[in-house]
Amino acid sequence: MKVDVLLGLQWGDEGKGKIVDVLTPEYDVITRFQGGPNAGHTLEFNNIKQVLHTIPSGIFRENKINIIGNGVVIDPVVFKKEIESLKSKGFDISGNLYISKKAHLILPTHRILDEASETAKGKTKIGSTLKGIGPTYRDKIGREGLRVGDISYNFEAKYSSRIENHKTILEKLYRFDYGAILGQCEKEWFEGVEVLKSFPFVDSEHFIDTLLKEGKSVLAEGAQGTLLDIDFGSYPFVTSSNTICAGACTGLGIAPQKIGKVFGIFKAYCTRVGMGPFPTELLDETGDNIRSAGHEFGSTTGRPRRCGWLDLVALKYSIMLNGVTELIMMKADVLDQFDNILVCVGYEINGEVVEQFPYELDENVKPIYVELPGWKTSLASIKSQDEFPEELNNYINFIEEETGVPVTIASVGPNREQTIFMEN
Ligand code: GDP
Ligand code: IMO
Ligand code: MG
Repeated sequence: MKVDVLLGLQWGDEGKGKIVDVLTPEYDVITRFQGGPNAGHTLEFNNIKQVLHTIPSGIFRENKINIIGNGVVIDPVVFKKEIESLKSKGFDISGNLYISKKAHLILPTHRILDEASETAKGKTKIGSTLKGIGPTYRDKIGREGLRVGDISYNFEAKYSSRIENHKTILEKLYRFDYGAILGQCEKEWFEGVEVLKSFPFVDSEHFIDTLLKEGKSVLAEGAQGTLLDIDFGSYPFVTSSNTICAGACTGLGIAPQKIGKVFGIFKAYCTRVGMGPFPTELLDETGDNIRSAGHEFGSTTGRPRRCGWLDLVALKYSIMLNGVTELIMMKADVLDQFDNILVCVGYEINGEVVEQFPYELDENVKPIYVELPGWKTSLASIKSQDEFPEELNNYINFIEEETGVPVTIASVGPNREQTIFMEN
């Protein structure tokens, strides 16, 4: 069996959580491969709304194996809160969730370091979610990280040596006063570690290999989006992991030829939260209208998301990097109100037309738009593609023609039920 991958093609928050939950009945195993609690994946069904940060979005379906892979970074405090939130809604997930021994732990000081680093950057800050992601991956690459598997071997000593190191950096480099906060954070952190320990720690690369050999089907769930990738995103305004398809190989220990379908998910428009370039951003009333219709406020931090038109230059770049085989278009309903919908088909840079995503996305990059007619009707209660207004079909056809990839799912609302499988 192969591993199918579902990942974001924009700047995150495309609706990955919703679609992983929708697709889970077709799979035996759901696994996260990178990122950490910077992610906020929202699921809505049966009057339940749940935001998941670390736990894979397959967790609500019965008899599915969910795995947190080695590429993920885990904050035990956030993990404990997620487990408690699921329990309070009546979901017992013991027996359905496995954690890679090789996943790295976000220490209390990683979060403080994230804040200290952003404060020190001042106006040039990244706009991080402040969950400790950057400092944790920095320690991983710097060969100073602490892993889930370490919990079982001489843990306290390893923990203390890392914390002492971080204290020195906070004092000497950032002159940051961590004294008051660290004590309470450490207490919560060790309580979280106890909750982590109640789940099986596995050699996830072997575990997944065995499952595949047994004929089990696996869906890998990405976090963030391609334009936040550490190598190919709008650096330095990116996250600290490889969010692209290749990240599934390193973040799970699967060989490239084991990758099957690649589902690329995008909104019918664009959003971004945090700092960094965004060529099609709308700083006017239209942007405000998209934000309010789409409830575009961060699932993790509550920050307002920046909104703009769909950018096909960026989308094609993401499709190329990931080898996308199927497109999934989200939040079409958010565009119900518009007479005309704009789509960026190229950039003008210093008088030249460019269709290739450029190295520098600065203020010289001007989007070139085509205008398509809006459908001006509510999509929320549509149940099949037969009911699509002609203008929506035209919008989807236009994207398919431009990208050369079929749109196989269109989403018309946040609920599980509001998902249309396309006939193509
Ligand atoms: P993720 O991080 O990619 O999982 O996406 P988020 O959960 O951060 O953000 C997507 C938001 O859009 C959530 O609030 C979803 O409930 C919501 N959503 C998902 N699909 C649709 C849709 O088709 N229409 C509307 N209106 N909302 C949607
Ligand atoms: P999901 O999985 C949207 C953004 C932050 C910031 C940058 C770096 O829900 O799509 P970090 O905390 O990683 O140091 O922040 O990346 N960011 C996200 N934006 N969705 C996410 O995840 C994000 N995770 C990080 O806003 O600009
Ligand atoms: Mg999100």
